[in-house]
Amino acid sequence: MDKIVIEGGRPLKGKIKIGGSKNAALPLMAASLLTSDKVILTNLPKLCDVKTMDSLLEVLGVQTTLLMNRISMQAKKIKRFEAPYELVRKMRASILVLGPLVARNGKARVSLPGGCAIGARPINLHLKALEDMGAKVKLAEGYVEASCSRLKGARIVFDVVTVTGTENIMMAAALAKGQTIIENAAREPEVLDLANLLNKMGAQISGAGTAVITINGVEKLHGATHRVIADRIEAGTYMIAAAMTRGDVMIEDVETEYVAALIQKLKDIGATIETYANKVRVVGPKEILPTDIKTAPYPGFATDLQAQFMTLLTLANGTSTITETIFENRFMHVPELVRMGADLQVEGNTVIIRGVDKLQSAPVMASDLRASASLVLAGLVARGVTDIHRVYHIDRGYESVERKLRKAGARVKRAKVKY
Ligand code: EPU
Repeated sequence: MDKIVIEGGRPLKGKIKIGGSKNAALPLMAASLLTSDKVILTNLPKLCDVKTMDSLLEVLGVQTTLLMNRISMQAKKIKRFEAPYELVRKMRASILVLGPLVARNGKARVSLPGGCAIGARPINLHLKALEDMGAKVKLAEGYVEASCSRLKGARIVFDVVTVTGTENIMMAAALAKGQTIIENAAREPEVLDLANLLNKMGAQISGAGTAVITINGVEKLHGATHRVIADRIEAGTYMIAAAMTRGDVMIEDVETEYVAALIQKLKDIGATIETYANKVRVVGPKEILPTDIKTAPYPGFATDLQAQFMTLLTLANGTSTITETIFENRFMHVPELVRMGADLQVEGNTVIIRGVDKLQSAPVMASDLRASASLVLAGLVARGVTDIHRVYHIDRGYESVERKLRKAGARVKRAKVKY
C-alpha cells in the first residue's frame, strides 16, 4: 500500500492545471448505454473511479477504448444487464447504470451500493422515480431488480435534492414514452453537462441546471462526442491549498462560475482572488480570518469541499463553524486533524473550529476521498513531515496529485508502506 509523504511549510506558487470532472465523467460514461452508436468523451480524468466505470461498462457489453484522456464507448448490444457487487462495492456511482439499462434494455439488476464512510446514502428516491415511470422494482439478495417494457413519462418530485438520482432519471426519461418533469432537481453543473451530452445524442431536455427539468422522451438516441467539464472540486481543493499555504497560484482550466460559493468564502477569510476566463488566481492572506460555513446543494457551498475548508479554518485567527447538511457522517477527518494539533469540537452536524497558530506533522489515515484531500492540505502547512496512509482514496478523485503539488513547489512524494 502507498502513503503520501509531505514536508510542510512551503507556500504553493505558480500554475496548477485542472482536469476533467470525476462526477461529470461517471454519468457521461453511463449515458453510452443509451445508444448503439459510438459515444466519445474527451478531457476524461485519469482516475480509479473512471477505470471502475469502464470495467462495469465492459461487463455490460460496451466496447470501450480508454486512451489517455479520451474514451470511446459503443454499446452495440447490451450483453448483460447486471452490475455485480464486486464493482458496485468499489464505487457507489455504479448505480448510474440503473436508469440507462432499464430504459434501453427493459431490465436491470444492480447491486445495492450500501452505505459508505460518509453516510448511509440510500437510493430510495432513484427507485421511487423509476416506479413512477412504470418500472417494477424489487429488492432481492442485495440487488435491486427493475423491469419495464418501455418506461413512461411522469412528474417526479424529489423529496431531497439528489445529484445521481436526477442524473439516473434524466437518462431513463430520455428514452421513455412521453414527457417527464423532474421537480426539485439537482442544479449541479455535472447534471447540466450530462443534459448537454444527451441533447447532442438527440434527447430533448430543457431546464437542466435549474430545479425543474423537462424531458420529452424519444424513440432512439445516437452517437456524439463531448468534452467533460472541468472538475470544480479539484479546482476548489487547490484554491484552498493556495490560500492556506499563503501561496500565489493561478488555477487553470476552471469554470469560475462553478466555484463562486468557494470564491466568496475565500474572500471572507482574507484571500485575494482574481478571476479571468477559465482561470482563477488565489493569493493567500497574511492572516486567515474566521468564517461560518453551511454546506448546501449547488449553488451553495459544496459538501465535497467541506473537509478541505475545515483544514484551512484550523489556522484562522478566531473561531469558525462548519455545518454539514448533506451527509450525516462526513467528519471523519476531524479526529485526524486533531492529531495534527487542530482544535475541533463536534456538536451534532456542526464543528466548532478554534484557530491555532500551527499544525504539527503526524501519521494520519485517509478515510474517504475528500477527507484524504483535507489531510494532504494539512500536511502542506504542518511543521515537520506528515505521512498520509490509505491514499488509494485520493486516487479515486485527484489526478496526479503529487505531481501537480510538486510543480507548485510543495515537497510531496509517494512511498510504499512496508507493514
Ligand atoms: N438521498 C436520499 N435518497 C436517495 C438519494 C439521496 O435520501 O435516493 C440523500 C443522501 O443520503 C444525501 C442527499 O440525499 O443525504 C444527497 O445525496 P446525493 O444523492 O445528491 O449524492 P450522490 O448523488 O450519491 C453526488 C456526488 C458526491 C457528492 C454528492 C452531493 C457523484 C458520483 N457523487 O453523490 O460526490 O458529495 O452528490 O453533492 O456525483 C465525492 O466526489 O467525493 C462525492 C461523494
